[in-house]
Amino acid sequence: MARILVAYATKHGSTTEIAGAIGKELTAAGLGVEVKELKNVQSPAGYDAVVIGGPIYMGKVMADVKKFVGRHREKLAAMPVAAFVVGLSPASKDEEEIGTAKKALSDAISPLQPVASALFAGNLDPEKLGFIERKMIGMVKSPTGDFRNWEAIAAWARGLPPLLAKG
Ligand SMILES: Cc1cc2nc3c(=O)[nH]c(=O)nc-3n(C[C@H](O)[C@H](O)[C@H](O)COP(=O)(O)O)c2cc1C
Repeated sequence: MARILVAYATKHGSTTEIAGAIGKELTAAGLGVEVKELKNVQSPAGYDAVVIGGPIYMGKVMADVKKFVGRHREKLAAMPVAAFVVGLSPASKDEEEIGTAKKALSDAISPLQPVASALFAGNLDPEKLGFIERKMIGMVKSPTGDFRNWEAIAAWARGLPPLLAKG
């Protein structure tokens, strides 16, 4: 059975649930799946493919993603990798904001060429934020609320098995 690692970064937990939803679909497709926060992953060794993702903060994907890719570049380049990014800009219909999110994701996983990539709308709960983060959100007039589209997340994940099987 193919072993798939779903590895994610998170600050406030909304990406944890997205990674879990992806893992659930891959498991339902018959794959051997482990869903882990990046800070608990030693290496991609022992897996056949990796799904990696994280949220955007102030225009950049959380640094754990880029660090992991940098540290394990050779191993990751030799296996199928799918990537996703979570943020509020993917929730907007603004092409420029969506372009920024796409660029943030490709910067984070460069030089890897993912077999699939996705932008997912996230969740911004002001109650969970500290003082500084709340000020930042106020300055950029970001919308707040849970914009996660579970059907879109599940649909993307259901399309992954044949892509992750390609070497
Ligand atoms: C201080 C702060 C800055 C953010 N900056 C961005 C941003 O630049 N672009 C974006 O699309 N989303 C931005 N977001 C939204 C987060 O990406 C979104 O809330 C995401 O779901 C958080 O994921 P997490 O709960 O896994 O940490 C920001 C959120 C906060 C609190």
